[in-house]
Amino acid sequence: MPKIAFVNGSYRNIHKASIEIEDRGFQFADGVYEVIALTNDVLIDLDFHLDRLNRSLTEINIKWPMSRESVMAICAEVIRRNRLTQGSLYIQITRGVTARDFSYPNGIKPSLVIYGRRSRNNQASSKAQGIKVISTRDIRWGRCDIKSISLLASVLAKTQANHKIAQEAWLLNEDGFVTEGASSNAWIVPRPNVIQTHPVNSSILSGITRLRTIKLAQEQSIKVIERPFSINEAKKAKEAFLTSSTLFVQPIVNIDGSQIGDGEIGSTTKTLIKSYLDFMD
Ligand code: PDD
Repeated sequence: MPKIAFVNGSYRNIHKASIEIEDRGFQFADGVYEVIALTNDVLIDLDFHLDRLNRSLTEINIKWPMSRESVMAICAEVIRRNRLTQGSLYIQITRGVTARDFSYPNGIKPSLVIYGRRSRNNQASSKAQGIKVISTRDIRWGRCDIKSISLLASVLAKTQANHKIAQEAWLLNEDGFVTEGASSNAWIVPRPNVIQTHPVNSSILSGITRLRTIKLAQEQSIKVIERPFSINEAKKAKEAFLTSSTLFVQPIVNIDGSQIGDGEIGSTTKTLIKSYLDFMD
């Protein structure tokens, strides 16, 4: 079955759909995006994702290309046309097409792309044995709260991790504190039933899975500390994990070659994985 994407007004075979070369997304990464998990035909926390998309658009002065309701209707249609049940949906909005110039004129029509990706089973992607991460300098721009399509620093960090047989890179600020992962939020368990993550500010993306994890932790009487932690604190933590719309709550058992805790998935992380999977179901 061909994969169908929505591209600027029409549904097209993904391999035949095209964007103009003077789209500012292509030339300047002048745009924003969302990745939303789909499980059992339902887009997880869709409203929160669209709220964040609205915020990203507002922060860089791009107007919605159509109403929020119309975007939701297209999401549903992409899911229907591709017969997706498990996977994720990608939404990208760029400032649009105009003659190449760094500053943008007013009144350009924004570009909109929506397409989906199938995965066999969402639950299976929360790996049972835990993953490895490396740490590397956070060389991104100063507005990581905007979900910008300008991802070069993250591409380099993630590739560096993969070359070291790790699945994620934790990004370190000048003081050696972990801001977040290249494409996820970073967490440690300093002691059982206590979880710690960087507070929301311009150094991190306010993850939707992060937000949901905080709510679920509170329901389970797990204490949430929103305070930066250093890479040394992370290596000495009892447990570590990351959160994202594609990996959910993902346990981490090794950071820069140091085993975390006893190298097994700890009880606090297990509780949160179960809570998140139950929430999705
Ligand atoms: N990335 N931090 C960064 C830098 C991210 O790119 C992401 C998500 C997150 C987690 O946010 P959320 O829980 O809303 O997915 C944190 C997505 C999955 C991506 O770019 O593919």
